[in-house]
Amino acid sequence: MCGIVGYVGGQSALDVVVAGLKRLEYRGYDSAGVAVLADGGLAAAKKSGKLVHLEKELAERPLAAGSVGIGHTRWATHGGPTDANAHPHLDNAGRVAVVHNGIIENFAALREELAERGHELLSETDTEVVAHLLAEEFSSVGDLAEAMRLVCRRLDGAFTLVAVHADQPDVVVGARRNSPLVVGVGEGENFLASDVSAFIAHTRSAIELGQDQVVELTREGVVVTDFEGAPADVRAFHVDWDASAAEKGGYDHFMLKEIVEQPKAVADTLLGRIDASGRLTLDEVRIPDAVLREADKVVIVACGTAFHAGLIAKYAIEHWTRIPCEVELASEFRYRDPILGQRTLVVAISQSGETMDTLMALRHAREQGAKVLAVCNTNGSTIPRESDAVLYTHAGPEVAVASTKAFLTQLVACYLLALYLGQVRGTKWGDEIRAVVRELARSGEEVERVLETMEPVRALARSLAHKDTILFLGRHVGYPVALEGALKLKELAYMHAEGFAAGELKHGPIALIEEDLPVVVVVPSPKGRSVLHDKIVSNIQEIRARGARTIVIAEEGDDAVVPFADHLVRVPATPTLLQPLVSTVPLQVFACELATARGNEVDQPRNLAKSVTVE
Ligand code: F6R
Repeated sequence: MCGIVGYVGGQSALDVVVAGLKRLEYRGYDSAGVAVLADGGLAAAKKSGKLVHLEKELAERPLAAGSVGIGHTRWATHGGPTDANAHPHLDNAGRVAVVHNGIIENFAALREELAERGHELLSETDTEVVAHLLAEEFSSVGDLAEAMRLVCRRLDGAFTLVAVHADQPDVVVGARRNSPLVVGVGEGENFLASDVSAFIAHTRSAIELGQDQVVELTREGVVVTDFEGAPADVRAFHVDWDASAAEKGGYDHFMLKEIVEQPKAVADTLLGRIDASGRLTLDEVRIPDAVLREADKVVIVACGTAFHAGLIAKYAIEHWTRIPCEVELASEFRYRDPILGQRTLVVAISQSGETMDTLMALRHAREQGAKVLAVCNTNGSTIPRESDAVLYTHAGPEVAVASTKAFLTQLVACYLLALYLGQVRGTKWGDEIRAVVRELARSGEEVERVLETMEPVRALARSLAHKDTILFLGRHVGYPVALEGALKLKELAYMHAEGFAAGELKHGPIALIEEDLPVVVVVPSPKGRSVLHDKIVSNIQEIRARGARTIVIAEEGDDAVVPFADHLVRVPATPTLLQPLVSTVPLQVFACELATARGNEVDQPRNLAKSVTVE
């Protein structure tokens, strides 16, 4: 979704802003623009397409140099990705410039009102009304922060706004409601951005802004108020990522780098969560044990890949704690009037911490009296801030749009949570918990081993690049893994890919099987769960008999699958519930390689955004 950068300080604002926008590219966008205050005026440039187009424009028509500026990468909502619709938007006098992330729901009425007062609006966007309203308010109050507060009170919807005004040339003003905005605090310079990656090359001191707040940035300081002008409480935090964590580090794609980082991400997420006696100590879970003991239901809400992590978590939570667990797509959750109460524990899983559907679901849950625990990767983001408790995943910055290392760490966090609930409620003995934790601790090395054997998977992916359809099958925790494999392939390779529960095949999808159709089958552990294992071996035979080309992901030592596998991918043997930690990895590599072979942009697939901040 849109990326925003604002800067005030001693450096060239254009350089800082463009570099910041580059670091936000991963969010997904289709046009970009900048505005700089210089020589008593305001200079702006914007272009549809990627940042290189904007840079070309800036090289051909340089802007005056200044040290206060704003920039934007736009993911189109209202109006196509044209030059005219790109941000910043200016008022008719060209004195105020504004960039925006979110949707202003009452923009049509405001637009009509402005037109009646003689304003000429040049774009199809909802944002442009804000530039005109700010110009009007500024002409009466003479202060951009106050003008912003007055305008915000008139806006409905979700918005992060950042603006500059040529008549107040040492100030950048931002506002936020339901969309992310973080302040970076430097020495004699300050930053505003959609997320910290835009400014970590300059400072790692940050301030998270709350709901309905306006921030005024000068070189000297940062002032935050609510929309009425009252001083607001804010939380300062230190960013523990460094700039190199957000660089490609020699890999062709961020996605590849992030796949390779998974062993470390898994280990980091486990770090410090077990005390010397082997007890889990999830300090961030600030929900009292008594409340966790009383919980009669767990409801997981999430979207996309995080939803798949939730589906896997359900197996662990129900098996280890015997608490019923539902998993729901966050976008569907609040619209079906879910049954929630004070004894419901809602778990909101989100890498970005900004996904609007998940945020709205958690708000709904809290309104109904439920306790909400966030599983999140992004410190300072909205979802953990609005939750009762948070369990951070420590995946580090995930830049590629397709989620990989965040998924594995979400699984680890969910396993820890399930064990913790088992510990608190007494449904799991200490030695059982320690045994699973030991297995979890080994899983980083197992992922490493999977990564070392991926060359045949890459070759297979390249050989299938011409195919139209690939199907994925799984059972038990392998079913969400199949869904995740299919999602990765859809979003990266733009291919028809579907995941099915293998047992469902004969209820319809088996009609899709035809000669040489590739079908990936995630085979559960043969140990201790032989019924499940035997059944999937039968499913493999059924599809093979109908011509499918079978790509079988099975544990080392599982010989029963060998006769039926056209391609065999081995993963280390793990306890059944933990198998997704290893079986997902070949599917990530497969999708990444297949997308590359099809010439697709791996890190920024078409039409997608990293952080989906609209409903
Ligand atoms: C797929 C992917 C998305 C996200 C989903 C939720 O690879 O990345 O499906 O998982 O948009 O995002 P978060 O976890 O940020 O809430």
